Amino acid sequence: MTAVEQHNFGLHCREVSHWFGDNKVLFDLNLKVDAGQFVALVGPSGCGKSTLLRAILGTDLPQEGEILTLQNGRLANADRPGRDRGIVYQKYSLYPFLTALDNVALGLKLDQTTTMFRWFNWSGWAKKQKEFRDRAAVFLDKVGLGQAMHLYPSQMSGGMQQRVAIAQALIMEPEIILLDEPFGALDEATREELQEMLLQFYEENKEAMAEGKKPPYTLIIVTHELNEAIRVGDRLVGLSQYWDWKVDGHQRSPGATVVYDKPAPVFRSDERPDYEMFADIRHEIRQVVYNPEVLQQRDEHVNLSPTR
Ligand SMILES: Nc1ncnc2c1ncn2[C@@H]1O[C@H](COP(=O)(O)OP(=O)(O)OP(=O)(O)O)[C@@H](O)[C@H]1O
Ligand SMILES: [Mg+2]
Repeated sequence: MTAVEQHNFGLHCREVSHWFGDNKVLFDLNLKVDAGQFVALVGPSGCGKSTLLRAILGTDLPQEGEILTLQNGRLANADRPGRDRGIVYQKYSLYPFLTALDNVALGLKLDQTTTMFRWFNWSGWAKKQKEFRDRAAVFLDKVGLGQAMHLYPSQMSGGMQQRVAIAQALIMEPEIILLDEPFGALDEATREELQEMLLQFYEENKEAMAEGKKPPYTLIIVTHELNEAIRVGDRLVGLSQYWDWKVDGHQRSPGATVVYDKPAPVFRSDERPDYEMFADIRHEIRQVVYNPEVLQQRDEHVNLSPTR
């Protein structure tokens, strides 16, 4: 891999298929993501979005195909979880007995120290703990919780807890962050604030790229809200089991694959999009991705990823 390829690499899913017994979920899925991209992943409920994220995370390996990520500067199979991949779920993953600061510092603690070290090298541990907390404070500041780092989860709103969960993922400085309906449980206003935060990260990417640096954030965000996908993603990827599988010689759908992959409009973080203007995109996605009656060639609306 050349230095330039490494600089631009985000993720590569190659011919990924997955099934649970007779339930065919993912079929020959190909997806290549560049560093710095914000991929909004949409698809009918049950089509396999979370299954795909778990496969990328390395906790549930696909039955067929391979998933490559950048691990310690090298392309490697994502066949186990690693620091290069982080995930944020809809349900907050915080420990109730730790403050925001310690919840965020926890990942570094588990990654960089052992129980033996913490028990028997007190001065070393105290020094490390301070270092981790200082680092956690930087990331809590980044997600807008600079003033709330000593609160416990029960003292925080849902939106604040979700910001902590995002800081937990960020502090590990992963190559790619997966977000599975991260704002699904939040009210509209809070949801919009968190979308703005993600767009600020996107702006940091653009600044880094303008200076010739690797963009710090690469995201795949699963959402059921098409407007959220349009606002946050710079690329819209639709996964669906509804495509013309007969041309591939199948009797019934062999599973969901990428049937939609197009660039999305990009917004500034302080800009509230006029969603009326994007009715065409929503309509197209509803037809191509969500409508069981519309069975198009599977690469007809795939403009960005390799289809085979
Ligand atoms: N551990 C499992 N064992 C058996 N079947 C599973 C398992 N996990 C998921 N499935 C099945 O795989 C299919 C895809 O599920 P998945 O959760 O990935 O869908 P999804 O696209 O994330 O749906 P939603 O939008 O509702 O979250 C479903 O039919 C589901 O029942
Ligand atoms: Mg899901």
